[in-house]
Order: sequence, then structure tokens, then C-alpha cells
Amino acid sequence: MATVYFHIPFCKQACFYCDFHFSTVRTAQQEMVDCLLTEWELVHHSIQGERIDSIYFGGGTPSLLSAAQVQILIDAVTKTNEVLFDAEITLEVNPDDLSADYLQSIRAVGVNRLSVGIQSLNDDILRSMNRAHDRRMAVHSILLAQDAGFEDISVDLMFGLPGLTDQEWVSALHFLADRQVPHISAYCLTLEPGTVWHRRVEKRLLVLPEDESSRMQYRLLMDFAKDRGYRHYEVSNLALPGMESEHNSAYWNGSHYLGLGPSAHSFVDGTRWWNVSNNARYMRSIRSGVLPHTQEVLTLSNRHNEYVMTKLRLDTGIDLTEYQSYFGDDFSQSFQNNMRSVPSEWIDLCDNRLKLTPEGRFFADGISASLFVLD
Ligand SMILES: C[S@@+](CC[C@H](N)C(=O)[O-])C[C@H]1O[C@@H](n2cnc3c(N)ncnc32)[C@H](O)[C@@H]1O
Ligand code: SF4
Repeated sequence: MATVYFHIPFCKQACFYCDFHFSTVRTAQQEMVDCLLTEWELVHHSIQGERIDSIYFGGGTPSLLSAAQVQILIDAVTKTNEVLFDAEITLEVNPDDLSADYLQSIRAVGVNRLSVGIQSLNDDILRSMNRAHDRRMAVHSILLAQDAGFEDISVDLMFGLPGLTDQEWVSALHFLADRQVPHISAYCLTLEPGTVWHRRVEKRLLVLPEDESSRMQYRLLMDFAKDRGYRHYEVSNLALPGMESEHNSAYWNGSHYLGLGPSAHSFVDGTRWWNVSNNARYMRSIRSGVLPHTQEVLTLSNRHNEYVMTKLRLDTGIDLTEYQSYFGDDFSQSFQNNMRSVPSEWIDLCDNRLKLTPEGRFFADGISASLFVLD
């Protein structure tokens, strides 16, 4: 089983916190779709014969694609590989791109899941982030999506944002629950070098919330999940029962995935590769039949560290019997030694599984790093 990711590297405008790969020059959108098709021709053999259980259009802003462009890409996958009849086909969408016609047209070409980038329901915050939508459009986008027949909807929200009060945070979460949104991705703001917000913080023009205040908002997220019946199945992801994302789970469970487009990552049979993060260079290379990627064969230590990092983010944690069968005694010994350095209130060993405690979840990546083994 494998999953496919298409990176759509265009945005209307640059959000001030974002360092994902995108360009605001959108003239080459059709050429980019043509190159994605060519890349598919060049790479699909690496998952020959594998069934596809998820196709994900991420970005950038995939909702800048027309339904016809989305269809061409889905068709390319369907022509070479069996796509399961109930495969999850997700399109990341921005609220300002949505209309009833557009939603119906993408549903008609096979998209059955939306990931809506709402981020905040506070107009002042949305403006300060340089988002292209306001609260009204955000609220309307959920109604439009539901009216168009989408049941599988995920909403991205951010917390730890300058100006976001605890009360507003909790009320945004309840707003989504009241509207039966079955999946929520909640990300704590990371200050990324090279972004407008990074420069503003350095010049003291913008003040970020204290870590303790972001932690408080994360605790409120956990309380909300419990109150409203969401499973907090991954550090940043909440789902009503049965509505967990297939695509995310495939990443976390180590399945094969092919990522196409500039900056996209792939993983097949212990080898990882990633494309150049530059639209013009990506397209030039693809047109000359050369994959613009850097490749790395994972060492056992790399695989170990990736396994620990991804599994520990899940509410199911690390099954120590499975761990032992994958990595044997050598790693187990240093893993157990490293475990002693993690504060006991952050990890929990129960039924032969190592899990993060609710307090530990906020520090997931740091805790994983302290459990890594070095080559
Ligand atoms: C790459 S974006 C693509 C989605 C879509 N373009 C949008 O803006 O809604 C995926 C998600 O990453 C999150 N994100 C982006 N930059 C972030 C940052 N600096 N810190 C935390 N989350 C971030 C946002 O919640 C965003 O919806
Ligand atoms: S957050 Fe989304 S819309 Fe904003 S710049 Fe990043 S990818 Fe583009």
C-alpha cells in the first residue's frame, strides 16, 4: 500500500509566519501541472503494483487549481496503479477560494476530503498574519463544504499566536465541534527564520506569547478533545472516532509514499528523496527528463530515530515488542538508558508501550530527540 502527495507551490500572498515552499508568481500554474504529470511518469515505477489508499494535494494552495487540473493528476495515478475504491483524496483549501460551484466540481472529480486552512477566527489576528480571508469567509467555507456534501472535513487552526486569548482559542474549537467538523489539526506557532514575523520579532516590532501561555493553550486543546469526544490521536491532530486521516497515518506508520512537485519528499524501501525547493529549477529539470532530487539511503540509526519520532507523536505510542523486533538488543540498551534522562512526568510505560503523558505531548519533538541513537 502506498500514498501519493502532490505539492502545489503557489499562493495568492505570503502569510507572515509561513516557510513552506510556495511562490506568489502564479503564471506557470498549468506548466507546473504538466511537470507534475511528467514527474509521475518518471517515478511511478518505484511503487509499481502497489495499491494507493490516499492521494493528498498539499501546498502552497491546492485550491488555486481548477477541478480539471486536479482531475488530470488523479487520473494519472489511477492509470498506473490501483486506487482503492474508498481511497482518501484530500485537497488543502483556503477559505477565500471556495464557492459552491468549485466545491461541487472538485467533488465530482473524486476529492472526498477537505483540509480547510482557517488558522484563526479572529479578524485582527488573520489580518496580522496576512491571510487572504476573514472570519466571515472562514465560517462560510465550512457551511459551503458541508452543503456540497463533504463529510470528511479537517480544519487547521493555530495557537500560541500573538493576541490570541485563551477564551478565543477555546471558543474557536467549540465553534468547530458545534458544526460537527470531524477532524482538527492544531499547530503551535513556530517562528521560522526568513519569515516576516521572524524579522519583526528580531526588531522587537512583534512580541510572541511566552512558552507557558502556549502550553496553557495546548492544555485547553486537550480538555476540549476530552469534553467533545475527539480522539487526540497525534500530537497536533484530533478526530471524531473513525475520522482519523489515512494520509497522516500512512506517514506515521512508515508506509511507502511518493511526493511530487518542488520540495516534496518521498520514501520507498528504506530510501528517502526530496525535490529541489525552487519552481523554475524543478520544472527545467523535469522537462529535461531528470529528477531534481537529493537521495539518502537511511541507516539503521536514521530509521530508528524516525520510528521513535513518529510513533511517539501517536496516542498509541511505541510498542516495545515491535521496537525490539525491529531494532534488536543493541539499540534497546541505549534506548532504555536515554529513557532515564526524560522527566518521568513526560513519559508513561504501561502494557509494554511507551507513551507521552498529556504534559509530555507538548514537548514531543524534544523528547524524541533525547531518545535518538547516533551513528
Ligand atoms: C503549508 S500550510 C498549507 C495550507 C494552506 N496553504 C493554508 O494556508 O491554509 C499547512 C498548515 O501548516 C500550518 N503552519 C504553517 N506555518 C506554520 C508555522 N510557522 N507554525 C505553525 N504552523 C504553521 C498552518 O496551520 C497551515 O494550515
Ligand atoms: S500558510 Fe498556506 S497560504 Fe499562507 S503562505 Fe503558507 S502555504 Fe501559502
